[in-house]
Formats: sequence, C-alpha cells, structure tokens
Amino acid sequence: MRLLRSGDLSAEVGRCTVLTDIPGVRAKRIAVVGLGNAGELAIGTYRKALASALNALATTRCASLLNGLTLEVVRDGEIYYLARHTVQCIEAALYRFTTMKSGRKESLMRLKEVGLALTSRGDANAGRRGLAHGEALAEGTTLAKDLGNLPANVCTPSYLARCAQKLARDLRNLNTRVLNEAEMKRLGMHSLLSVTAGTDEPAKLIVMQYKGGAGDKPVVLVGKGVTFDAGGISLKPGPGMDEMKFDMCGAGAVIATIATVARLKLPINVTAVVPAVENLPSGRATKPGDIVKSMSHQTIEILNTDAEGRLILCDALTYARRFRPDVMIDVATLTGACVIALGRHRTGVMANDDDLAEAIVAAGIAADDRGWRLPLADEYAQQLKSNFADFANVGGREAGAITAGCFLGKFTDGVRWAHLDIAGTAWTSGDQKGASGRPVPMLTEYLLARAGALP
Ligand code: BES
Ligand code: MN
Ligand code: ZN
Repeated sequence: MRLLRSGDLSAEVGRCTVLTDIPGVRAKRIAVVGLGNAGELAIGTYRKALASALNALATTRCASLLNGLTLEVVRDGEIYYLARHTVQCIEAALYRFTTMKSGRKESLMRLKEVGLALTSRGDANAGRRGLAHGEALAEGTTLAKDLGNLPANVCTPSYLARCAQKLARDLRNLNTRVLNEAEMKRLGMHSLLSVTAGTDEPAKLIVMQYKGGAGDKPVVLVGKGVTFDAGGISLKPGPGMDEMKFDMCGAGAVIATIATVARLKLPINVTAVVPAVENLPSGRATKPGDIVKSMSHQTIEILNTDAEGRLILCDALTYARRFRPDVMIDVATLTGACVIALGRHRTGVMANDDDLAEAIVAAGIAADDRGWRLPLADEYAQQLKSNFADFANVGGREAGAITAGCFLGKFTDGVRWAHLDIAGTAWTSGDQKGASGRPVPMLTEYLLARAGALP
C-alpha cells in the first residue's frame, strides 16, 4: 500500500517495478507488474505484463523464475495457454539477433527453471503440456526470426534449401527434397522462372514432408521465399529497400511451422512447399508486358515485375495439388496494400471456404497472433482482366491485397485454400527493426487444433 501511494507501483498494464533484497523474502528480486482492472485479464494483457517484467529482468543474473501472475489470472481451462504464452514471452524477451555482430555480446539472463504458481493440482498436466508446446513454438519462432533477419547475401534460395535439408537431418521424421531450375522448367513453371530471370542466384523449389497421420490428406503450407525483392525492371525506390530482405518471411514461417509440428510429433500430415527466388533487374530480366505460361497452362501478362510473389506462388500452388491436400494455406509478404488496409497488427486472411477462414481467424485469437478476413469476390477478380493474356498480374491500386488474393485463387480451383498476407505483420520497422516470427503461432495453433492436441 505504501508503495502504491508513493507512486512506486502502478496497476497500469505493463508498468513494472523490481524490488530487491526484501527482508524476510528468500527471492532475490520481486518484479511487481500492473495488470489493469481486476477480473479483466485477456491473454494479450497477460503477455504485455509478463513481457515488461521479463524486460526489466533480462540483463540480471536471474536463473530461476517463479511466475505468480498465473495465480491472479487462472480460470478453468486457461492454464494451458498461460503456460504456453509464458514460454513464448520468454523467447520474445530474450531473443537477440547477434550472429552478424563481431563485438562482445550483451549478456542476458540464462533461465534454468521457470515455475508457474497454480491454484490446484489438477491443473498441472495442462500446464505441462502448455510448457512443452510453448518450447516447440519458441524454437519455431526463433528459427523464423533468424531466417528473416539474415541479410539477403547470406539467406539466398540455396541457403533456405540447405536449411530445410539440415532440419530433415536433425529431425528424423521430416523429409526434404529440393528441385532445381531445370526440373522446374520440365514441370512448366514458367511463371516462377520469369521472376528469377534477372538474377545469377539459382532458384529452388523446396518440398518438406512430415507424416504423422497415417493415410490422412495433408495440410499443404506454401511460403513465399523471395530472398530479396528489388522489384525487377519495375524497380522499387531506394529508401527502405533493405527491408525487402524480409520478403522470404512466408517461407521462413512455413519451414519453421513444419519443424515445430515435427518436434511435437503431431498425428497429422503436413507438407511445406517453398518457391525460393531473388527478384532483381538485369539485361535478362522479365519486362513489363511480357507474357508467360504458368504450370496450370493459364497465361499471365506481367504488367508489373514487382508483383512477383503471386508469380512464384501460383506455380507452387499448382505443384502443391499433387499432394492431394485437404487444405492449402499460402503465407506471403504479398502486398503493400495489405499494410495500408490492416496496418501492422493483423494478418490479412483470405479463403475460398468459410469454415477454413473461421478456423484460421480463431487460431489467431487463441495464439494471440491475429488475422482479419478480407473478401475474395468475382468483382475484384475482374480487375485482373488483360487484353493480351488470360489475365494480368496486377489489378490496379484499389483493393490491392484482395486482387492479389484473387490472382492466387485462379490456381486453387476445387481445393480448400486460404491465403495469409503477412506484409504488415512479418517484421517491425524503425529502431526495433526485425522479423516477428509471425504467423508461426497462428499456423501452429491451427495445426494443433486439427491434431486434437489442445486441451
Ligand atoms: N514484397 C512486396 C510487398 C511488400 C511491400 C511487402 C512493402 C511489405 C512491404 C511485393 O512483392 C510487392 O512489391 N507488391 C507490390 C504489388 C503491386 C506492384 C501490385 C506492392 O505492394 O506495391
Ligand atoms: Mn515485389
Ligand atoms: Zn515481394
């Protein structure tokens, strides 16, 4: 009470005070953190509060942590998510991308044990499962962040392919195959290959398979892997172009998600398909007005070489059909228009199936990695009309996120399919610049639900 009155403590969400060497208390430190109004604690608030406590402790020598926030907030059935989010928050608070720095590294706390305060013994199993899932997810988001943060001169299509192969070596229940340009040409992937025409860096098609579900039809995840997007001949402006190293975050997310599923040995089948290319201008690059034939035999007039994501994804989606998917989900930093529509808070969700869209949006809420549905309708698809080919690769300025979705929809006939536009959510700009690891939590949540692995 004295500390509250003196203003040293506050109930404001995330305000944190660290008390040390308190007489009669064995713990070296107690971090007291505001949770807002009693009885109103949502998972987002819990994460914010915990993150602020962890940030306050991050540079201490603290090795064991007892999280008492759970005591305040556990209602029936919530301990699983509290435990899981606790581990994910720890990952987020202690993540640093230092592999490219040469100096001495900042020393951060090394947690050896983390305890959760529970009200009843009955919660312990759900809590332990939440911790296990949280650890796998933390490893997954760390991988997605690392891949995103690596510069494009390191993280090339070949690097992504090697990373996928290494995961298959480390996780025995995962299989990786990599197709080269000659093989893609034989398959008729001329749309994908048109994007890589301007670079010397060879394109790769990465295919990863996880089989945990006997004869079930797989969920196929398709991730945009443009390791650098200069725009091609439709060159992007200079300022901020460095951030186009993040244009492979869809690829990073699906690779990390299938690795997470494999670590958790979920009883489902998942396949990841990653078209990986670099989009650069050169004397051999594709030009505005060029027409290519996609693997689906539909012809595309490339009016803007900077709308390259859809050109690689359409062939990857056509290829993905050979796995007879129950569901296909593509993940892509696809349009600046999606950032304008939804900002950096929510991933754009588009789908040709209402139940699938709803399941993905619900997964985003539970995982605190949210999405928001945008409509796919024929009126929008009309904007893609071309006088010279079956359709164009751009549909004008209006509803740019949706017309991009409609373009992909032309390659998913007869398959349940969803498209996640993560252009706003895959990374943060400014002085906190870095990959977010999103939407690994949302995708993993969807797959955990399918696998019946949630409490
Ligand atoms: N990778 C970009 C989309 C993007 C832009 C993501 C900015 C995040 C931040 C994509 O390849 C692209 O260039 N899209 C164009 C499409 C347009 C030419 C129809 C865009 O959004 O401007
Ligand atoms: Mn582009
Ligand atoms: Zn792009």
